[in-house]
Amino acid sequence: MKILEGKGVSKSFGGLKAVSDVEFYVEEGEILGLIGPNGAGKTTFFNLLSGALPMDSGTVLFGGQKISGLKPNQICRAGMGRTFQAAKNFPGMAVYGNVMMGALFGKPGRSASEAEQITDEVLDFVGLTEYKDKMVTDIPLSAQKQLEVARALATRPKLLLLDEVMAGLNPTEVEDAMKLILRIRDSGITVIMIEHVMRAIMTICDRILVLHHGAKIAEGTPQEISTSKTVIEIYLGES
Ligand SMILES: Nc1ncnc2c1ncn2[C@@H]1O[C@H](COP(=O)(O)OP(=O)(O)OP(=O)(O)O)[C@@H](O)[C@H]1O
Ligand SMILES: [Mg+2]
Repeated sequence: MKILEGKGVSKSFGGLKAVSDVEFYVEEGEILGLIGPNGAGKTTFFNLLSGALPMDSGTVLFGGQKISGLKPNQICRAGMGRTFQAAKNFPGMAVYGNVMMGALFGKPGRSASEAEQITDEVLDFVGLTEYKDKMVTDIPLSAQKQLEVARALATRPKLLLLDEVMAGLNPTEVEDAMKLILRIRDSGITVIMIEHVMRAIMTICDRILVLHHGAKIAEGTPQEISTSKTVIEIYLGES
């Protein structure tokens, strides 16, 4: 079953077509990779899906319901969680409070005790419990990336959008992040991940979609994408 599907998804900034007439789908339970050169429109595409930016045109259905045109809080509460490429932690708060914000934001009227229960569970799930009382400015980059994921997970999403959660991590931390994403998927959450770390994309994604100058230029299995002439010329060749 398709959990998310869209067509004609477009966004321009002045004369620049950042996302251009993209048609796509995401199967429930899969990990879909979203790749492409810097400036290809990947983050803008996430901003359109999550409602952070309005689309110029196009339609997106989430679980069969139209979400294009809805506000970010409505889309979050419909079950779409996301992380931000530039981490959007609340700097004046400890790790615990940051995750709790996700739990409270995810569903209006969630009680404090329920939010605390979710927070404890999510901190344990991503492996952040040891940092829970630390201020977000005092934890290592890898923990900040985990915190981004934790806050999104605390909203209790059905679909999770991950924007470069492996950027800046060392090889061991990348391995851990790959395992975490697989565990997230195995817990029943569908994942779309933007990533430049090709080893991770090729290893854990079921399918990959490639953007270039805002347009979809290829879509397929890791095997198909890694051997696609177009993709190698435009993107993989250079990395
Ligand atoms: N708010 C904005 N206003 C104007 N231009 C923007 C805005 N956001 C993005 N752009 C431009 O749109 C294009 C796509 O940017 P986007 O951030 O979506 O790329 P990306 O694929 O995520 O790149 P990267 O891999 O570097 O993160 C770029 O040319 C960028 O400069
Ligand atoms: Mg980006």
